Amino acid sequence: MTDLFSPVQLGKLKLPNRIVMAPMTRNRAPENTPTALMVEYYTQRASAGLIITEGAQISPQGIGYPATPGIHSIEQVEGWQPITDAVHAKGGHIFVQLWHCGRVSHPDFHNGELPPAPSDIRPAGQAFTYTGLQDFVTPRALDADEIPGIIEQYRHAAAMAIKAGFDGVEIHSANGYLLDQFLRDGSNQRSDAYGGSIENRTRLLKEVTEAVCNEIGADKVGIRISPVNAFNDMHDSDPQALFNHVASTLSALKPAFLHVVEVSMAGELDNAVDMLEIRKCFKGSYIANGRYDKPRGNAVLAKGAADLVAYGIPYLANPDLPERFLRDAPLNEPDQATFYGGDAHGYTDYPALDT
Ligand code: PHB
Repeated sequence: MTDLFSPVQLGKLKLPNRIVMAPMTRNRAPENTPTALMVEYYTQRASAGLIITEGAQISPQGIGYPATPGIHSIEQVEGWQPITDAVHAKGGHIFVQLWHCGRVSHPDFHNGELPPAPSDIRPAGQAFTYTGLQDFVTPRALDADEIPGIIEQYRHAAAMAIKAGFDGVEIHSANGYLLDQFLRDGSNQRSDAYGGSIENRTRLLKEVTEAVCNEIGADKVGIRISPVNAFNDMHDSDPQALFNHVASTLSALKPAFLHVVEVSMAGELDNAVDMLEIRKCFKGSYIANGRYDKPRGNAVLAKGAADLVAYGIPYLANPDLPERFLRDAPLNEPDQATFYGGDAHGYTDYPALDT
């Protein structure tokens, strides 16, 4: 029976297990460039079947948080290279997550200019800035003639990712960031070809995915969505119909995987969408994510409702998560206070077994 330790083919990669390290923002790249500490952090976690890095902004315009790494400049490529080299040297596999925050940003990151979004709708909540929490602003709606430039940012970042030695990329279309803002009608009220119908709201993600697949090969591309996540003030009037359509549209482009955040970080709404319907609409691999532990991970694989399982917070606190699952060893407790920003403490000092 398939379980977390059954090998699996993902695109052209043969993964030794089905345990994925989920992307997690850790804010430890002060110059927006990966550091030696990040090399250590990812190398410690190389026994994952697949690592998906924290979100990496695809352009200066895409940034929305302090000290997050980018994947658009040569310096950043050079910063990521030792990470991909070290993970590969330990037999691991690593994709980088391509991130554009859209409206979930602040003018402080953009020389006082408004962050771009599908529509000028201000999300409830606050941005993390270099000077602390500040209310989100009303973003500016992107002009139709700026859309090709957005697609170009993703294409360029995907090319840079391959230069940096990544095995592939995950397009971040989840959790209330730019592409998710286009998908959902709570944040997209455009009247052009990129707003209105479900088909129109899916158009930008489709065109971005096409451009990235053409650039690096569809077998090296995954997409992350979060159909029920209310985080970042996201909502939609018909999420099941929307995300079924998203899954079938993406499926036709034959990317390696669809990675689905199956829960809401905001707590409620977890049952508003039947994830099995989404899975049936997508022919590639399905990565399930959201409050899984070992038994639930094995169960979702055994019943065929997912092909791989991504672990976030458990992975942050347990560099050797697969070994611990294998041996039914106790898990380290995650320390919330050190999730975002700081140094090695709460980052590279979680112990592995037998150390
Ligand atoms: C976060 O910083 O809390 C965060 C970043 C990216 C996500 C989700 C959450 O996709």
